[in-house]
Amino acid sequence: MKVLNYGSLNVDYVYSVDHIIVGGETQHSSKMEIFSGGKGLNQSIALAKAGVPVYHAGIVGNDGDILLDACKEAGVNTKYIRRLPVKGGHTMIQVDKNAQNCIILYGGTNQMQTREFVDEVLADFGEGDYLILQNEINMLDYIIDQAYEKKMKIVMNPSPYDDKLNSCDLGKVYLFLVNEIEGEQITGCKDKDQILDAMAEKFPGARFVLTLGGDGAVYYDGKEKVFQDIFKVKAVDTTAAGDTFTGYFIASLIEGRSIQESLRIAAKASSIAVSRPGATPSIPTAEEVKKELGIE
Ligand code: RIB
Repeated sequence: MKVLNYGSLNVDYVYSVDHIIVGGETQHSSKMEIFSGGKGLNQSIALAKAGVPVYHAGIVGNDGDILLDACKEAGVNTKYIRRLPVKGGHTMIQVDKNAQNCIILYGGTNQMQTREFVDEVLADFGEGDYLILQNEINMLDYIIDQAYEKKMKIVMNPSPYDDKLNSCDLGKVYLFLVNEIEGEQITGCKDKDQILDAMAEKFPGARFVLTLGGDGAVYYDGKEKVFQDIFKVKAVDTTAAGDTFTGYFIASLIEGRSIQESLRIAAKASSIAVSRPGATPSIPTAEEVKKELGIE
């Protein structure tokens, strides 16, 4: 069984600000840092740091060295990462004094996937292999259809949620990881139980993880709900906390751990990420996570 994450790679330009800027305002930033990020890359790095071999597929631009270096450092396989001689995907992230962030995303090369490239990547994968997706690249509808034909297990983190996802056959997804906002966008429900019930009705046969920010996370497979609280920490930067949770949850499942233990490991990894600045640099190693939890 192989694990492929086909997703975004972004250079994150992170500005420390007093408060998230409002329309018409100009504000000094006390610090600017550049990190490797992107929902796709963050999740691949979380998987690799959790100890699961992962192939990342995607496209970087002429500013992509920092992203390839991050892959190499974490042990993410870069065989399916291509480079184009144009500006790559990047973000402008404000982080305020309460560690809240807001993100402007420029797709760049993340939005330049082609059928030919998708076919080339998926040719090396087949039945039972995992495919992890987020919503920061183009061609998602095609990728989902092709992977489903091949009987791959499709894991979908539909983030950031937008209308493009309406063209995707999400009925082909094996596991969804969504936050409350995405859950509401998909189902129209606000209450967490209603979101999960509506998702199970809409996508029978799938299983779901609903993350609830400070209120923890719930897993639901249409029959049983499993709850996990957060580990409280002093937040420094919440960027990539969700991606760390996603990567560690999938990695723990692949390692054969129970749902409860997988949620617990994901919550701990995510809490460590929140206590550190940046996207990929904030993601802890498996040793750190297991040591804090006192597990093997
Ligand atoms: O989920 C966090 C990520 O979202 C950041 O690293 C940024 O690149 C955006 O894609």
